[in-house]
Amino acid sequence: MKDEREIIDEVSRFVMKAMQNHDSGHGWSHIERVVRMALYIRDCEGRGNRLTVELGALLHDVGDHKFAAHDGPEEIRKLLGTLGISSEVISEVISINENISFSKGRRADPASIELQIVQDADRLDAMGAIGIARAFNYGGFKGNDIYDHRVKITDPPLLPGTSSKSVSTIHHFYDKLLLLRDLMNTPTGRRLADERHDYMVRYLDQFFMEWNAGEET
Ligand code: ADP
Ligand code: NI
Repeated sequence: MKDEREIIDEVSRFVMKAMQNHDSGHGWSHIERVVRMALYIRDCEGRGNRLTVELGALLHDVGDHKFAAHDGPEEIRKLLGTLGISSEVISEVISINENISFSKGRRADPASIELQIVQDADRLDAMGAIGIARAFNYGGFKGNDIYDHRVKITDPPLLPGTSSKSVSTIHHFYDKLLLLRDLMNTPTGRRLADERHDYMVRYLDQFFMEWNAGEET
């Protein structure tokens, strides 16, 4: 097996290349933040295999429909196989890639702390100030309105599991972003999610206050 640093560098180059041609909500910077956050959560929790967490975070979005590569697990197996990584780590990294998604609606397998950590890190990046920026960025990319006041906001959402089809970006908060806090797996994730959740709630209060100005008594 190669030196861990060399492995991470090589996998980083692969992911950077795989993500060149798609929307900026999934740019390389999202991956970098998820890697940093996942390693931070692992340090705070004091458990989880470091290499699995780092590779799992780097490769978590590969195979996503927004990426060039379509068969994530196959790509990952090929890539990590050539780097001489153990089959246990490869299986775990693939399981992270397959199970991380919010739209699949699954909770992380409680047996895998590495999946729990990377899933928390990915979800935290959809929350707080960064999450708000990513949501409006994605909504703009899709040509959605920032808000459509004609469509009633339902909480919980009418259509669970279809948050990518939110009618406006403000609706996306109710379809997904405000639900993430209660889906955190680790105590560290929950602590950070609390802060980011409250920030989004304050943001929405301000948004509706400005939206309604002149119409409310
Ligand atoms: P992930 O990186 O967790 O796989 P997604 O692919 O679901 O995230 O979405 C990428 C980013 O775009 C996230 O921040 C998500 O909240 C946001 N997003 C997804 N669908 C919408 C939407 N319909 N409107 C606004 N933002 C969206
Ligand atoms: Ni992601």
